[in-house]
Amino acid sequence: MNQFFFGTFPYIALAIGIVGSIARYERDPFTWKTSSSQLLRRKQLVMGSILFHVGVLVIFAGHFVGLLTPIWVFDALGISHGAKQTLAVVAGGIAGIMALVGGGMLFHRRWTDPRIRKTSSFADIAILAMLLAQLVLGLLTIIASLGHLDGHEMVKFMAWAQGIFTLDGVAASHIADVALIFKLHIVLGLTIILVFPFTRLVHMLSVPVRYFTRPGYQIVRSRRQVPLPERGAALATAQAKPAPASDAAAQPAE
Ligand code: HEM
Repeated sequence: MNQFFFGTFPYIALAIGIVGSIARYERDPFTWKTSSSQLLRRKQLVMGSILFHVGVLVIFAGHFVGLLTPIWVFDALGISHGAKQTLAVVAGGIAGIMALVGGGMLFHRRWTDPRIRKTSSFADIAILAMLLAQLVLGLLTIIASLGHLDGHEMVKFMAWAQGIFTLDGVAASHIADVALIFKLHIVLGLTIILVFPFTRLVHMLSVPVRYFTRPGYQIVRSRRQVPLPERGAALATAQAKPAPASDAAAQPAE
């Protein structure tokens, strides 16, 4: 059981997460978006979104650096295991609460606004619920972590995470005896990686910071049945033979 969840499942989740994201980008590039609902209701979005995104980004950076940096790097920098554990608890705790409050506002808005609810897919609501559940589990791990502030449990998580990426066959054994709350948190985290390509979370990979400065614009779909001739070809034809006035009037507007 331990071997499956922490030795095999990580590879299943990573494989589906990575291959699925590439396949979606290749097959359905136009579904690769944040699906922002700002147009429908701005209220609650700005504050909720800022709190959620800042919190989650701090957590991601913390998890990435904290779990995947070899322990000897911290030792070489003179950062004790206890100091690293305390930083994870304090910084992760503050960021986790910010993300939970912001995520709660986003969920409330999505669930209670009839227009946003109607335009939300099952995946939109499910992924937000999963992230909120993951934040609650993550914050609950802090209670367990407070019992070992010397950092010796944290070293086990680092050995496990790094073991997964170095194809260490016994990686799962490093966390065989950790508290259940950590295991639940890790399994849900891996599940989020697995479903990632099927949700709007893919927008993370495009780092859509241009949204902050984008000018307003509107996409208009033409009802034209026949595609327009290519621009170059149309120009050449027009120059060779100017269209009669009646024809020009019959052309639909661009
Ligand atoms: C596969 C993905 C994930 C893994 C393996 C993972 C692992 C862990 C571990 C081992 C801890 C305990 C750190 C310690 O105290 O030493 C932790 C804490 C935490 N995690 Fe995760 N996690 C994952 C995904 C997530 C996600 C997606 C979120 C948020 C949406 C999250 C939020 C938190 C929070 C708030 C804490 C408590 C604060 C902290 O210690 O940083 N985790 N996680």
